[in-house]
Amino acid sequence: MKKRLLSGIRPTGPLHIGHYLGVLKNWEKLQNEHECFYFIADWHSLTTKYKDTKELQKDIIEVTKDILSSGIDPNKATLYVQSAIPEVAELHLLLSMITFQNWVEREPTLKDMVKLLAEDEKKAKEETTYGVLGYPVLMTADIFSVLGELVPVGKDQLSHLEFSRDLARRFNFIFKTNLFPEPEALLTETPSVPGIDGRKMSKSLNNDIRLLDNEKETTGKVLKMITDPKKIKLTDKGEPKDCQVAYKHYEIFADKNTLKTVQDECRNAKIGCVECKKRLAGIINKSLTPIRNKRESLKKDSDITEILQIGNQRARKVAKETLDKVRNVMKLRTWNC
Ligand code: TRP
Repeated sequence: MKKRLLSGIRPTGPLHIGHYLGVLKNWEKLQNEHECFYFIADWHSLTTKYKDTKELQKDIIEVTKDILSSGIDPNKATLYVQSAIPEVAELHLLLSMITFQNWVEREPTLKDMVKLLAEDEKKAKEETTYGVLGYPVLMTADIFSVLGELVPVGKDQLSHLEFSRDLARRFNFIFKTNLFPEPEALLTETPSVPGIDGRKMSKSLNNDIRLLDNEKETTGKVLKMITDPKKIKLTDKGEPKDCQVAYKHYEIFADKNTLKTVQDECRNAKIGCVECKKRLAGIINKSLTPIRNKRESLKKDSDITEILQIGNQRARKVAKETLDKVRNVMKLRTWNC
């Protein structure tokens, strides 16, 4: 049976191949299996970047292009922008009334986030706004607004999902209803993609290969990938297992035969790392070609806005229906003005 599925992504900048392999590829598969709602979580990005909104509207358009070029079909899934749905903000407020303070304070992700925001504790305190504290409440409002049953998320978001489940039970109990399903996390095994310097791939570390990079830019980045530090000259024997970045990308992008060839050539000093990485660049470029071609067809921002508007309307209709029900069970009034 098809279920309601919802997932969001924060528009904090151009997406990279880690996002593609970890999130978007999965979204593309799921759109054929469930009734999917995918959205750009622009309010969530405000929790950490509230002072820095200069690029936000551009980022929303660019992230939408990344999503569409990765094969998400707006005719199959409903693709929308969080801030286009004021009912989500209303639901966030209503849910905040039944959320215990210690439920948000004990969120492990919040603690990590605070650590990331600021190294020293004093600064962290200044960065921890009411909005950050409400992060899981807002996420729950996203899910509940479309009565989402399944939520594909990464491991780092599991505690938020647990929070949403607790809140669904609490709401249903207080208002004697079964309106909100307890949303289930869909955890997918995704490859960990190292950045070209060996750290986790991330835009802020500037070690990422972006979906909007062209062939030349991609090749340039692949050639910078670190390899087995023992293999300096062509005639040095290397070990793929010790090849810290390039071989890991081979494992992600290449087929079995190619992997065997690479292992043999590396271990027996038949190839130098530069040559080896040139071939890798070819493989990565080839697998990104469909994404790039699709992106070429999405040049006009007005087309993107139009696609989003159709999704916004569909999502909003569902959210309005949900909020009517919420107000009803809470004995609140819908003011038509
Ligand atoms: N917090 C998620 C992330 O950073 C994004 C998100 C916001 C989300 N609301 C959501 C994901 C609701 C799933 C469901 O990745």
